Amino acid sequence: MTNIKTKIFEILFPNPIWTAAGPTAADASMLKRAADGGAGGLVTKTISVKPAKVPIPNIVSPFAGSLLNAELWSEMDYQNFINEELPKIKALGKPVIVSLGYSPEDFSILGKAVEKNGCADAIEYSIHYVGKDVDNLTRTAEALKNNTSLPIIAKFSPSIPDLESAVRALDKIVDGFAAINSVGPALDFDIKTLQPCLGSEDGRGWLSGRAILPIGLHFVSAISQLTDKPVIGVGGIRKVEDVVKYIMAGASAVQVCSLAVLKGQDVYGKLADKLAKWMKQHNYPDIDSMRGIFHNRKKEAFHLLGYGTQLHPQWIEKKCTLCMICEKSCVHRAISFPNDIFQLEKEKCVSCGLCASVCQPGALEMIENHY
Ligand SMILES: Cc1cc2nc3c(=O)[nH]c(=O)nc-3n(C[C@H](O)[C@H](O)[C@H](O)COP(=O)(O)O)c2cc1C
Repeated sequence: MTNIKTKIFEILFPNPIWTAAGPTAADASMLKRAADGGAGGLVTKTISVKPAKVPIPNIVSPFAGSLLNAELWSEMDYQNFINEELPKIKALGKPVIVSLGYSPEDFSILGKAVEKNGCADAIEYSIHYVGKDVDNLTRTAEALKNNTSLPIIAKFSPSIPDLESAVRALDKIVDGFAAINSVGPALDFDIKTLQPCLGSEDGRGWLSGRAILPIGLHFVSAISQLTDKPVIGVGGIRKVEDVVKYIMAGASAVQVCSLAVLKGQDVYGKLADKLAKWMKQHNYPDIDSMRGIFHNRKKEAFHLLGYGTQLHPQWIEKKCTLCMICEKSCVHRAISFPNDIFQLEKEKCVSCGLCASVCQPGALEMIENHY
């Protein structure tokens, strides 16, 4: 039997695919769509004492699968959110994680108010606008800790300069970590009008979606090696294999934002169903059996990089569609297709591996050559 339920902070989540703080988690009606769409946990849009003044336009898609946003945090009055929305969100029957921001002063008000309201199971706080200084991060986390007994998740931005110091400092205060927030600042603009695509003062915003998956994986893998506390993976998830990667890199659960914005609120349940099928097919009985296994295998992969070993692409003819993308992307001109037959000039090949990674049908496999 495959079990995708996951227990984090003694809270039982029906599956490890949660909403992320963002436009699809702004209020109870939106989170109802997420709950109906199969989300295993409901993380809300970030609430702060001062409602955000959100510029327009504030979300664009610069290329397929990614978003650039200047949405800041919630425009809702925090008392309205806590008194009116939170009880309705709690009634949806899924674990509720309230996202809060940003300063110690904000947290002394919001921590108490969320605790008193009694509808949240945990709190996530974003370090996005807190600054990069570790003392500042620690002060902020302490302010929240002093005002709530709920489990606290620190959500990291990828711009944090010294990840190790930040994790070690916060590990003494918080109960878990989430990574990553959107990446930036980032810019896009119209070359005819010269107008930025976003309406923020400087036209800048934050990038999310498919482009940031490898950054998120790096953060989750690095954080999970620095702490024994739960790490939640977020950033760039589009398909079940991305979820699997986050869990193998050390995540106990994942959050999904851009995909739900672009494809609808049933993506959570679809990913959860696919995860259960994938795990069954690959003989993983539960999340714990997969979690962090990337770290056990990393050293085995390292030996390939040792001197005395080269990797060369091997052609699997029956899979090849003769699209020639490998030939075009080989900057060393090591690949050619005389009479539609793959040919490699080994003395030109530098073993970079790009040809195999761009080959969609999987017709090239990097194999070891010892010399
Ligand atoms: C339009 C938009 C609004 C967001 N608002 C918040 C927010 O209020 N608080 C927060 O912590 N993260 C916010 N995020 C970041 C997401 O929660 C998430 O960390 C990021 O988008 C990466 O995940 P994804 O690639 O699945 O979108 C927002 C993202 C987007 C696209």
